[in-house]
Amino acid sequence: MVTEKTFTLAHLSDIHLDPMPRPRLRQLAGKRMIGHFNWHRSRKKIHPRKILDKLVTDLKQQPFDHIAVSGDVVNIGLPEEFDNAKKWLEQLGSPQNVSVVPGNHDAYVRQGNDQGFWRWQQFMHSSKGAMPFMPAHHDNFPFLRLFGKVALVGLSSAIPTAPFIAAGKLGQQQAAALEHILGQLDKEGYYRIVMLHHPPFHEKAQWMHGLRDARKLMAILHDRGAELVLHGHTHKHLIRSLPSKKDDIPVIGVPSASQFKHRHKPCARYNLYRISAKEDGWQMTLTSRGVTELAAPIKQLDQHSFFSKY
Ligand SMILES: [Fe+2]
Ligand SMILES: [Fe+2]
Repeated sequence: MVTEKTFTLAHLSDIHLDPMPRPRLRQLAGKRMIGHFNWHRSRKKIHPRKILDKLVTDLKQQPFDHIAVSGDVVNIGLPEEFDNAKKWLEQLGSPQNVSVVPGNHDAYVRQGNDQGFWRWQQFMHSSKGAMPFMPAHHDNFPFLRLFGKVALVGLSSAIPTAPFIAAGKLGQQQAAALEHILGQLDKEGYYRIVMLHHPPFHEKAQWMHGLRDARKLMAILHDRGAELVLHGHTHKHLIRSLPSKKDDIPVIGVPSASQFKHRHKPCARYNLYRISAKEDGWQMTLTSRGVTELAAPIKQLDQHSFFSKY
């Protein structure tokens, strides 16, 4: 399976798009009222648009094949925010070149089936060739995009929750579909990337801000394997791993693409994953680019190499 072709995936997350549109009073009932207050009190300063624009300009100068966005594109789920986010995504790239999974802020309040993050549905579609890998009955998520022998599986962990809760959940149907897809892709020797907003770990305060069915996801990844798991949500640069029957799976969390350094969270970054098939396995190099201060130029901040056996 040796090939000279390298596939490069760019990974952005937690856009928290600025500016916030001016809401009508009736739109600020319940959870949105608190979120709106928090945005203007502090979050607006933490996610200045100029950092995001600077990061995207740098990204577009790098060689890459596809962009993955792992959620929290908007803030309090106003209809105008979803429209602005759609325009921003369209400027980032075409729906064929950009994949998006939603985060908890994209499901801030309950929305209709054609509302909210569903307005970005064209960025959350499966590829034409994905059908043979899908279960007989499946929903919009997971979606599956294929790029040669590299597969990107997009999961939605976005669920509406009560104020101050930022938890996520996949649900049984999505978990079962993921299990099926990972098994099918493995038989055909794909490099399998799983992307979701929440980290796939069972951690402290799980009910408040974690993935509520993380144990189920960890069990699926352990049994079926994957070559890479990507997430956002924590706004931190995290490189961890999950055990699987086949090999350890690198699990990589990217910081927010718009964040100014805040408490223990770093300034904005994005990641590039360069994937190539070697004699006996997959080589993946992670390069992290970003800023360390608001006015600093964008530069390479970190680089790691990973190897997964066929
Ligand atoms: Fe976020
Ligand atoms: Fe989040």
